[in-house]
This record gives sequence, structure tokens and C-alpha cells, in this order.
Amino acid sequence: MTADGKVTTKNYSAVDFTSREDKAHLIRQRALGDAVLVGHGTIENDNVRLGIPREDLRQERMARGQPPYPIRVIVSNKGRINPKLNIFETDFGPITIFSTTRMPRHTRQQLRKKATLYLSQARRVDLRWMLQELRYDFKVKHVACEGGPALFRSLLEQGLVDQLNLTVAPFLFGGKNAPTLIGTGMDFLPRSVRCSLQDMKVVGDECFLTYRIRHSSSRAKSRMLAQSLR
Ligand SMILES: NC(=O)c1ccc[n+]([C@@H]2O[C@H](COP(=O)([O-])OP(=O)(O)OC[C@H]3O[C@@H](n4cnc5c(N)ncnc54)[C@H](OP(=O)(O)O)[C@@H]3O)[C@@H](O)[C@H]2O)c1
Repeated sequence: MTADGKVTTKNYSAVDFTSREDKAHLIRQRALGDAVLVGHGTIENDNVRLGIPREDLRQERMARGQPPYPIRVIVSNKGRINPKLNIFETDFGPITIFSTTRMPRHTRQQLRKKATLYLSQARRVDLRWMLQELRYDFKVKHVACEGGPALFRSLLEQGLVDQLNLTVAPFLFGGKNAPTLIGTGMDFLPRSVRCSLQDMKVVGDECFLTYRIRHSSSRAKSRMLAQSLR
């Protein structure tokens, strides 16, 4: 994000405002995941393939017992996903789409040739259910979410984020309609999220921060209970 907290401009254009070091950092974080997760807005705007371009990172994954590429996961409530996006032109790792039965029939037919679809009857995708499905069907334990802001806010609201990797880039964009890290919503989060700083590194004019998200004790207890029930 910029020094004033923006992750893009008000047009949601695919702005490129971080350094090569930051892009390498993103790929290293992606390479740690069993799955890489993005919202529909991000895949539509940025048209990313979500690959691991570096051979050494793929080798490290295999040494850890992971497949060379993480599972690529897209979330959309409405399901109006363009089957011509770049991600669907690649076959290096499985693609799964979590959406709802609002997805148009012809879109389903086209996407089924390229991805595994999970369509729920609800109007919105239940993110907790999505993570459970990924765990049970693909043994996913570590998800690297690359945004965007709307999806990140939903994950935060539900207490589903453990770590935040934040790069502060040396720009100021301004503009109340340009989304911050957690979008454009005027509402407060249901409760403020407390973080603890784990790491900070400065490279050139950028600052790389790693935060652990502190979960409230009741939430931590329910997470522990959920784990012990597995
Ligand atoms: N600077 C950065 O690091 C960074 C990172 C990522 C993205 N971005 C920028 O952010 C912009 C996109 O922002 P955005 O807020 O539109 O992105 P987004 O969070 O990727 O996408 C929002 C869409 O994802 C789906 N979605 C969100 N929450 C959901 C939930 N709980 N359940 C199911 N689906 C959910 C919905 O899709 P449907 O509308 O299809 O229902 C929603 O409209 C782009 O300009 C991109 O460049 C910047």
C-alpha cells in the first residue's frame, strides 16, 4: 500500500507502484502457500496467472512435500467470471472457484472445463466453509491470500487471518474513493483487530512489515476447539 494506505486508485486500475523487491517478496510468500487465494475483483482487474516463476522456489516447495505450484483459488459471489482471463490459459496448477448458484449457466459450462467449481446455494460464499473444503479436499493448511481489499476485509471480519505481510511504498495517492487495505467501506470493522509486529525490513524507500494478527481469547478458544474436533 501507499504511505496513505491506498492499494490502488479510485478507478481500481492495475497500478504498478511497488519495486522489483516487493514483487519478489510477493512471489516468495505465494510460494509458501498450499493455496493462493484472490477475490474476483483482483483477478478481473489485474488478470494475474498466480504462478511461481522461479525454479528454485518450486524446488523448495517439493523439498517440503508440496506440489510445485499452489492450488489457485478464486472467490466470487455473483460468479460472473470471464473464462478468457489469463489464469484460465495456464494449466500449471489446479484452479478452484468458490461461488454460488448465482453463477450464470453458460459461465459454469465454460469454467468447468478449466476449474473445479464449488457453488453454494447461499447468496454469498461462506469463507469458513471454503477453507474447510480446501482442507478436506486438497489438504490445504496454509493459504496465501493476495487480496483484494473486499475479500481481505471479509476474512478479517471473520477472524480468518493469522498474518499480514504489508509493504509500505513511497507514494501518496489520496482520494476517498480509492480503496485502502480493507476497501472503501465507511463502516468500522465489527471489532478492532490487534496486530503484533513480527518483522520489519527496509529496502530502498520501501518498508516490509510482517504482523501476526492477535485473535481474541474467545475466538482463540473456538479455534482450538475446532482443531481438537478434527
Ligand atoms: N496493492 C495491492 O497489494 C493489491 C492487492 C490486491 C488487489 N489490489 C487491487 O484491488 C482492486 C480490486 O479490489 P476489490 O475490492 O474489488 O477486490 P477483491 O476483494 O479481489 O474482489 C472483490 C470481489 O470478490 C468477491 N468477494 C469478496 N468478498 C467475498 C466474500 N466474502 N465471499 C465471496 N466473494 C467475495 C466478490 O466478487 P463478485 O463481485 O464476483 O461477487 C467481490 O465483488 C484492484 O484494482 C486490484 O488491483 C491491490
